[in-house]
Amino acid sequence: MLHGKKIILGVTGSIAAYKSAILVRLLVKAGAEVRVVMTPSAKDFITPLTLSVLSKHPVGTEYFDPSNGAWNNHVELGCWGDLMLIAPLSASTLSKLASGNCDNLLLATYLSARCPVVVAPAMDLDMWKHATTQENLARIQKHGVHIIEPVAGELASGLSGEGRMEEPESILNKVNNFFVEGLSLSGVNALVTAGPTWEAIDPVRFIGNRSSGKMGFAIAEELAARGASVTLVSGPSSEKVRNASIQRIDVESALEMQHACMKLFDKSSLIVMSAAVADYTPEQVADQKIKKKSNAMEVKLKPTQDILAGMGERKKSSQVLVGFALETENELEYASEKLQRKKLDFIVLNSLRDAGAGFGVDTNKVTVLSATGSRLDLPVKTKKEVAHDLVDLWSSVIQSS
Ligand code: CTP
Repeated sequence: MLHGKKIILGVTGSIAAYKSAILVRLLVKAGAEVRVVMTPSAKDFITPLTLSVLSKHPVGTEYFDPSNGAWNNHVELGCWGDLMLIAPLSASTLSKLASGNCDNLLLATYLSARCPVVVAPAMDLDMWKHATTQENLARIQKHGVHIIEPVAGELASGLSGEGRMEEPESILNKVNNFFVEGLSLSGVNALVTAGPTWEAIDPVRFIGNRSSGKMGFAIAEELAARGASVTLVSGPSSEKVRNASIQRIDVESALEMQHACMKLFDKSSLIVMSAAVADYTPEQVADQKIKKKSNAMEVKLKPTQDILAGMGERKKSSQVLVGFALETENELEYASEKLQRKKLDFIVLNSLRDAGAGFGVDTNKVTVLSATGSRLDLPVKTKKEVAHDLVDLWSSVIQSS
């Protein structure tokens, strides 16, 4: 599947370097031509000989190779590759990539690479969570580097948590996807909403809902990974944006969300409204905290404006508009009614009756209905996988519009 693709594999000093041997094997088996460069400390974890035998090419470790008196030309190598993959990426090399340090062959090759760069970090959980690591990651993402996030599991330290390098099979799939999907959405402006809205009753209380924002954040990440310029308008959510190219705008109420979205609407070619926007808001917001009384209390509500329906009215044929529907009964009927009433191109339906779907969980089960009458039923998947499939579906329409 990677037939003829030229891959520069960078290996750094992390215990996960032993998996690089399997990775080279898989890449070569898939038809890729692989040239390996290692940092000096990577050699403590795996020998250049192993990677050289598997890749069928000499492995570069030093600028100057005393064994044959040759100079390892990082510029030539940087121009040669279709993709540079650094797996595993240690915290140390990450920080050097972020700062432009160039004190070994791998770093010089990175700075010389004209091709896209994908990295698969591997480190202990506290190192991974450390603010410096996260800042360095954000920095290299801003420079266009793609991240294959580490996964949670048992770590070499004996601790358990996030920081394990993705398995070689999964890295291979992602590299393949990278070539298939590439940056197919570059030039596309996408607007994504996520999370709940909070409608204030007084300075202390609000009316909200249980939306976590996970689905919308996953969609924003997937779109950004494919090269779209993404603005994410989020209601209150504890989710974090990973890809530093995503512009995040935090809002609280439905009205704030409406203002933020309508400013961006005209220049967006894909609009994904996954936020759970309140349909009602208190008619009046008390200036001071409302004091408890012995009798019953009433909060009078007025309808909010339906942002999505407003967009449907205003939408140009070149724009793709996607709504979400969370239902508890008559799911298909309600969703297709919303699709038509709000003049959408797609509606993504999830039912609270389905196991694995709903609020706060990492999985979802969705059915997508389109304005052209098609229907896609996805099984229970992680929200990340659902985002991948949804973006696949929308991409085909954006590209042909
Ligand atoms: N939505 C919106 N603005 C609102 C309410 C909802 O943009 N004020 C969007 C949501 O982001 C989502 C879709 O509309 O994409 C969900 O609509 P929903 O609230 O379920 O539909 P309603 O027409 O309000 O139907 P009901 O509440 O009766 O289910």
